[in-house]
Amino acid sequence: MSKPKVFVTRKLSSQFVKEYEEILDIRMWDKEEEPVPEEILRSQAKEVDALFTVLGDRIDETLLAEAKNLKVVANMAVGYDNIDIDAASKHGITVANTPDVLSETTADLGFSLLAATARRITEASTYVKEDNWKQWGPFLLAGTDIHHKTLGIVGMGRIGEALAKRATGFNMKIQYHNRSRKPEAEEKLQASYVSFEELLETSDFVVTVVPFTKETEELFNESAFKKMKASAIFINISRGKVVDETALIDALNHGEIKAAGLDVFYEEPIRADHPLVNMDNVVCLPHIGSASTETRTEMIHLCMKNIVEVTAGRVATTPVNN
Ligand code: DGY
Repeated sequence: MSKPKVFVTRKLSSQFVKEYEEILDIRMWDKEEEPVPEEILRSQAKEVDALFTVLGDRIDETLLAEAKNLKVVANMAVGYDNIDIDAASKHGITVANTPDVLSETTADLGFSLLAATARRITEASTYVKEDNWKQWGPFLLAGTDIHHKTLGIVGMGRIGEALAKRATGFNMKIQYHNRSRKPEAEEKLQASYVSFEELLETSDFVVTVVPFTKETEELFNESAFKKMKASAIFINISRGKVVDETALIDALNHGEIKAAGLDVFYEEPIRADHPLVNMDNVVCLPHIGSASTETRTEMIHLCMKNIVEVTAGRVATTPVNN
């Protein structure tokens, strides 16, 4: 019997795939940091049993309908807004993601971004690198305290909870808003549930960890930024499309909020001439929430495991549908 065929949309070093080659016929796009051209993705999808995708790959209804042998799409991310889940379900295709393995790592990055933005760390580092440090000054690069401030987490899932856990070490007051209350998290993390409006109005740091869905699209819009404190710092580690970027730029320009730390953007990648990149009170990162070597390795193995399970006729380890 021939081995199930897999197409991986980014180049992975052979150390990650060799243990699966005995049971899977693995082919891959040959570039690590360049997305696979759409026509190659579509033609591969028609031939293979499994796709190993990353978040920039758009897996739409047309691709899924034409992929007659496709059984599973294993997406190397916890988010799966790049995939049409309803269409996959309609065509009997399993979609799997990589939850849990990245929660702590993404929370590490989220909290680091919060700290970097509040304490102006990247700006201060550039200041030294550009040889501007001539004297000590009482308010030279003075930032905002983190300890004892109020952290507002929008989206209290696994990453939100891991972020709250870190905040407890900084003696922060934690409040959250979520589709449903999390009594266990409230107790464990001393977090209080508040309405979205109250969270916006009373938090010193507003961190978004919500997935991108129709409901969360541009949740952070002009009216949301107007409700925030003028001293508030906004952090986004979820998806760029949960923010109206023009409204964010206006809010920063008009002093409606103090600063922003962003790991994700409306359209990615952004270029160096993007207006947010050139603002001193904004820290921009290239979507590296889960980017530690340990976690990315685990994510790859979880994707491969999902592929092995589904192509062998079993249920995926971390399915999103079916
Ligand atoms: C995710 O897992 O959804 C992250 O954004 C990818 O790093």
